[in-house]
Amino acid sequence: MAKSRIYKPTAEAIIMASDILKKGEVVSFPTETVYGLGADATNSDAIAKIFSAKNRPSFNPLIIHLPNTQMVEKYVELSQLTKDLSNIFWPGPFTMVLPLKKNSGISTLITAGLETVAIRVPSHPVAHTLLNEFNGPIAAPSANKSGQISPTTAQHVDQEFGDELELIIDGGPCDNGLESTIVKVVYDQLTILRPGNVTVEEIQEKIEVKIVTDTQPTDNPIAPGQLKSHYAPNANVRLNVINPEMNEAYLAFGDTNQVENMLNLSPSGDLEEAASNLFSMMRSLDQLNLKTISVAPIPKSGVGVAINDRLERAAAPKDLLKD
Ligand code: TXA
Ligand code: MG
Repeated sequence: MAKSRIYKPTAEAIIMASDILKKGEVVSFPTETVYGLGADATNSDAIAKIFSAKNRPSFNPLIIHLPNTQMVEKYVELSQLTKDLSNIFWPGPFTMVLPLKKNSGISTLITAGLETVAIRVPSHPVAHTLLNEFNGPIAAPSANKSGQISPTTAQHVDQEFGDELELIIDGGPCDNGLESTIVKVVYDQLTILRPGNVTVEEIQEKIEVKIVTDTQPTDNPIAPGQLKSHYAPNANVRLNVINPEMNEAYLAFGDTNQVENMLNLSPSGDLEEAASNLFSMMRSLDQLNLKTISVAPIPKSGVGVAINDRLERAAAPKDLLKD
């Protein structure tokens, strides 16, 4: 039998993963948002392997991960406001697009030629331990083929990449289940480029800052960040459905009578629970091989904004550009 690529997060597995990264190869590891496909952010050959494994368009820049703010300051400029934000939201599901320092050593493939880079300090203990062991920036997009649903378990990653990957560290299912909130800060204004578990409400509660939301899907490759078709299952996706048709799979929310081929994101109507179940339930329903997955309406408040963002992209026509 072939040796399993999935390793429990022991000290040996972490060292093995770090050594593979240092050799310029790619590994998958868990974060509190989704599983990442990681490579050494200073090694362009290694980064090229991420783009090729994911079939990701090269104009779409990657996020880099670091173990703490002190190391972040080696690569980017922090203002008083971005320092304050880092103190509040790092470690956590929060990514800031920040101005790169000159001679940062970060591969130009990561930034797709931009003068900024997206940075995150994750809180997941396995990601944190791996980052400390590697002691450098790890670039990691979600560990799925471009345009597909992001993985929230090690098994999802394995299904997606098979023996293309040498090692996947299994940290169990991801708590948040949606990719991190991405923000860009220019002077005193914060723009939300991608909604996530850190919500507008939470930012407003914790810090005084002007917030702009800019998550309009785009198919303009020059403006990176948000491409229209993403998180897409093979089935068609129909949104805001209260009464699914016969032969449709149904992704329900709240107190709903069980029907055939239905999964419920959160019977009690809890948005955080729904976020954490979204991608894995969408995958399970997709495996029924029905033509359509219909989805119940989800309230657009709190993390519901991020859930609706992902659902709208999942429902977008697939001939649009993929993230
Ligand atoms: O939760 C997450 O953020 C996961 C985990 C693994 O950390 N990563 C993730 O990465 O979702 P990825 O590559 O799938 O999404 C990164 C997004 C892309 O939409 C990209 O266009 C945007 O960040 N991005 C990266 N650098 C940027 C920049 N300099 N300016 C604007 N957008 C940027
Ligand atoms: Mg992704």
